[in-house]
Amino acid sequence: MYKPKMKLTKGQLAILRGEHGETKQKMMETIVRFGDIFNAPRLVRVTHKKGHLVTSFGINLLKPLYKTMEEINANNIKVEEGFTADPRPIDYKNVKCNLLEKLIFSKIMYGKQSYYEEQLLKAGLIDKDAFTCTPYLKEVGNIPKEGDILSWAESSAVVYANSVLGARCNRNSGMIDLFGSILGYVPLFGLLTNEGRKATWRIIVKTSKLPEAQILGSAIGMKVREEVPYVIGLDKFLGDEINEDVEGYLKDFGAATASNGAVGLFHIDNLTPEAKRMGMTLIKQEAQEYIIDDQELERVYKSYPVIWKKKDKPGNLVFIGCPHLTIKQVRDWSNKIIKGLEEIGHKKVVVRTIMTTSPYVLKIFKNEPLYEEIISRGVKITSICPLMYTNNPLTKLRRILTNSNKLRTYSHAKYLKNEDILNFVIGRK
Ligand code: F3S
Repeated sequence: MYKPKMKLTKGQLAILRGEHGETKQKMMETIVRFGDIFNAPRLVRVTHKKGHLVTSFGINLLKPLYKTMEEINANNIKVEEGFTADPRPIDYKNVKCNLLEKLIFSKIMYGKQSYYEEQLLKAGLIDKDAFTCTPYLKEVGNIPKEGDILSWAESSAVVYANSVLGARCNRNSGMIDLFGSILGYVPLFGLLTNEGRKATWRIIVKTSKLPEAQILGSAIGMKVREEVPYVIGLDKFLGDEINEDVEGYLKDFGAATASNGAVGLFHIDNLTPEAKRMGMTLIKQEAQEYIIDDQELERVYKSYPVIWKKKDKPGNLVFIGCPHLTIKQVRDWSNKIIKGLEEIGHKKVVVRTIMTTSPYVLKIFKNEPLYEEIISRGVKITSICPLMYTNNPLTKLRRILTNSNKLRTYSHAKYLKNEDILNFVIGRK
């Protein structure tokens, strides 16, 4: 038996000894070894018991994953309160692919998708629509409370849960998230501790207007990497309440900090729950400082490399929404596109334009007149992860534009500011 460095209770030791079966024994050993690497003194209970699984795609290569899931299913082991998962990789109806791309996606890349989804349902996936990276939105309903301890791994969801909801979760990896939710324990270290939630960076925002969320998040992520930033000066633009607009802003901001760096938690002065309660006492004395003004944001924006083969050609595919758009963002983008088209006398968007949102938001939006209107203007709406779409070697030939800094970082897509994306999509010169 693995000899843990951390202290375990009798019940936890019993699982580690295999008294609850071999599968749980292996899961417990994984969790304990993971905690020992980070010198966690003990395990703590997961209090928000709904899980969220980062590994949502059935890539053929992940054979050990299917084997582990087979074992979990065979032993009838589940996440008792269920779990959501990251977005699906493909949607041929709304994100069209040519025959060769389809062949690569269906046979080579994601050939195990249906099989894997069946495995997920048996292990407790909430329902067949539960595929989104925004599980914490009210339409999805996997919402941790302040102080809750979670076992999630999706970086954009972890940073949102920690920062905006005040829950506690480390940036775990795939399957550690599922094991923690099944066993109900995670190791105590990092962002689960009061000390680990203190800020080591003081960020001072001195811009003339509300910065674009994804560029500000990117600037901070690249500067602080995996540390905790405390942002001063943003409440001047965002106010001191988390309303629907702020929710969307912080979702996009957080995802950029988490992908352009490895931020798992941020505090916004006067706005996010811990900053509201504890104010600047959250900032460590030896914290470093980073001042962000208009010039600095422009410098960061201009530093993004463009890795298209034909750099001087215009984009031919636009993805809006990564992480998945909130319902407010879907409505706002639809209204802006329609208004823009009317202003310049165009009937339809001039480039393939795809918005992404969760299946639950899409279901609601489909019942609104705005849905028919935006679809009639040539925009498609999907619930896939655009990053998974760019995994196909053939899609790399497309010149993708996006307003997502996460998608830009992990793919060959080029980032454009929201206003530029809008103008490009509607054909405004
Ligand atoms: Fe979500 Fe995929 Fe973007 S998981 S954050 S849509 S890369």
